[in-house]
Amino acid sequence: MPCTSKDRGSQKKKMTKSTNALPVMDSSMERGTASNDIVPARRPAPDRNVEKPAISVVGLGYVGAVSMACLSHLGFRMVGVDIAANKVDLINSGRSPIVENRLEDLLGEGVEGGLIAATDNLVTAVLQTDVTMISVGTPTANDGSCDLTFVRKASQEIGQAIAMKSSYHAVVLRCSVPPGTTLDVVAPEIEKASGKKLGPDFGVCFNPEFLREGVAVADFFAPPKTVVGASDDRAASTVSGIYEAVDKRVIFTSIAAAEMVKYVDNVWHATKVAFGNEVGRICKALDIDSHDVMDIFVQDKKLNLSPYYLKPGFAFGGS
Ligand SMILES: NC(=O)c1ccc[n+]([C@@H]2O[C@H](COP(=O)([O-])OP(=O)(O)OC[C@H]3O[C@@H](n4cnc5c(N)ncnc54)[C@H](O)[C@@H]3O)[C@@H](O)[C@H]2O)c1
Repeated sequence: MPCTSKDRGSQKKKMTKSTNALPVMDSSMERGTASNDIVPARRPAPDRNVEKPAISVVGLGYVGAVSMACLSHLGFRMVGVDIAANKVDLINSGRSPIVENRLEDLLGEGVEGGLIAATDNLVTAVLQTDVTMISVGTPTANDGSCDLTFVRKASQEIGQAIAMKSSYHAVVLRCSVPPGTTLDVVAPEIEKASGKKLGPDFGVCFNPEFLREGVAVADFFAPPKTVVGASDDRAASTVSGIYEAVDKRVIFTSIAAAEMVKYVDNVWHATKVAFGNEVGRICKALDIDSHDVMDIFVQDKKLNLSPYYLKPGFAFGGS
């Protein structure tokens, strides 16, 4: 159901912005409909006998820092890793390496509560945790391909740590990568470095990140969707369990489809921006107010802003 400004207003009333008495999200809240300044109260684990997994995060840039802050707010013990000493120092002192609304509050709260620590030692971080999230950079290479150097390096080091572990470990790739990367690059690098087997000894998942910069913390607690592609059921349930408090309707799919979804989302958003600007250019040449036109366009939730015309298949007709 689309969220109206009235809905948003009533949610805002339910969830005031006091840091001392943070309100709890309730089940009436639809996925992705929270206002931009919502941070829920920390929730107890659904079953107090089941301990929350400890999570290491490799790469403390935008994606990693937001994960550290928000997951610690949900009660997970977090160990961050970065090769950049300044980012490690900032996180350890409860300060944010990026400018993002509410992030520093949550990082400070996590450090104070003993739930956040950071190090430059990836192997130690993996040994101290049950799940490792990879959020290192994936820059564009000179030939236009995706440079996976940092992903490979991180996977090798994770493998070295898993070699020393006797318990199961789940590895979650959160970077935007070409389909195939998790199973054809990350898993083999870990197997090679650890001498262990994907499945019985460790699992891999792809769990894309859909947060908008500027309102990433609010989006974390009211995500547009949560997608998990996993190598096996154990890895899938470990990772989906992490998001239980913020999204009970995790979308499970194949790892390659999850990887592709992230690229498709990015390209769709770029297509919308390009389309809007093209309409603007044409309207300007015709002396028509493009905002009037697009305000009308976006009100059509049946044909325009809908799944209609978006499924691959036969051409459409009409005039
Ligand atoms: N920024 C976004 O809006 C956004 C959104 C969704 C997905 N992503 C994707 O998530 C990934 C991370 O993006 P980002 O913006 O957070 O990147 P970033 O460049 O801000 O941060 C990456 C961090 O990884 C660290 N790093 C590199 N190799 C390392 C290693 N071996 N061990 C430990 N740390 C290491 C770097 O020092 C850096 O701090 C990329 O694949 C990106 O495409 C980004």
